[in-house]
Amino acid sequence: MTLEPPSPTTPRGRLIDGLARAYPELAGDHARMRVVRAPGRVNLIGEHTDYNDGLVLPAAVSLAIEIALILTDDERVELTLASSGDRGTLDLRDLGPKRGTWLDYVAGTAWALQEAGVRTRGFRGILFSTIPSGAGLSSSAAIELATAWALAGGEAPALDPMTLARTAQRAENEYVGVMCGLMDQFAVTMGLAGMALHLDCRSLAWYPVPLPPEVELVVCHSGSPRRLEASAYNARRRECARAVATIAAREPGVSSLRDVDRAMLERHRASLDEVACARALHVITENERVIEAEAALRSADLDALGRLFAASHASLRDRFEVSSDALDTLVEIAVGTPGVVAARLTGAGFGGCTINLVERGRAAALRAAVEREYGVRTGLTPRVFVVDAADGAGFVPPTAET
Ligand code: GLA
Repeated sequence: MTLEPPSPTTPRGRLIDGLARAYPELAGDHARMRVVRAPGRVNLIGEHTDYNDGLVLPAAVSLAIEIALILTDDERVELTLASSGDRGTLDLRDLGPKRGTWLDYVAGTAWALQEAGVRTRGFRGILFSTIPSGAGLSSSAAIELATAWALAGGEAPALDPMTLARTAQRAENEYVGVMCGLMDQFAVTMGLAGMALHLDCRSLAWYPVPLPPEVELVVCHSGSPRRLEASAYNARRRECARAVATIAAREPGVSSLRDVDRAMLERHRASLDEVACARALHVITENERVIEAEAALRSADLDALGRLFAASHASLRDRFEVSSDALDTLVEIAVGTPGVVAARLTGAGFGGCTINLVERGRAAALRAAVEREYGVRTGLTPRVFVVDAADGAGFVPPTAET
């Protein structure tokens, strides 16, 4: 804990400086100042499998949300967005109903923590973000986890990490009203530098998978808004549930698509409508690809990674129908660029981003190709981010200034 004002020329110092400018009346109280941080995430492979009890392979990334805060003795939260100056206020004893703004992620997290029996504390804070919002990089899960650390007084919330991730998911499902699976909150909570994370969404068993040093992660943002995302996402969930219900009526022991393999799906094809069958086939094959991709990462089999990412993208486009012209174009440009190992859409789809594995040191060629071709072909403005696999949410110690 530092009692001296931190130097405003360090990254942490700049956050504290912004905090002092937003709340000048509290600015002298350095002993009560904290900085917490939560990363965004990419999913390498395993898309739309989490809510089907399946397998995912995400990584937390070096784009992040940070909150610099001053602990207070009241039951009030005041949080200011550094980007716009917009300020939200909450009474922790009376969180009230959903408002339809970004503040719902903060209020929802406070609600879910309280429901889990965690004591929440008041603070005044300022939120900085390098995660583009609405881009499919989990800025929502990052707000939830950064808020959870802030509400716990800048410390680890008193829950085991998996329960914390599930509590943040509950905030989003039950307070914000978005029916997401566990992947995003899991990755943002558990992230480990240099690692992807294998999660079995049925047993919740997980382990890190080292990323091969030969590749780096490049995120390409399509610049297209994720239109109708929530309703289309919920429709996909219902279509998967429909496939399960039809098969389960004929196969005892089936409770999710995790229990269905290709042979079983084939046996019941005639009873399923075409859409439900296509959705199920995506999920079944995507789970297989997660296992194969993990093996390919461990043996640095770059050709196999390229094939698996391509098959995942095609399946999401043709069977799950969550891609878009913009995302298909980004993938096409990437696979035609020397040095690109693998490319696919990442996250829910319907717009947002692609994730690319690129031979280390060759990301500039992908950036140049995207900047040269994408705007001309789509009329949209792309953004390219070279990212590292990063640690999960936590406290930023004053020593981070050195
Ligand atoms: C969104 C959801 C996740 C997951 C992905 C698709 O990111 O929040 O839970 O379902 O879409 O893989």
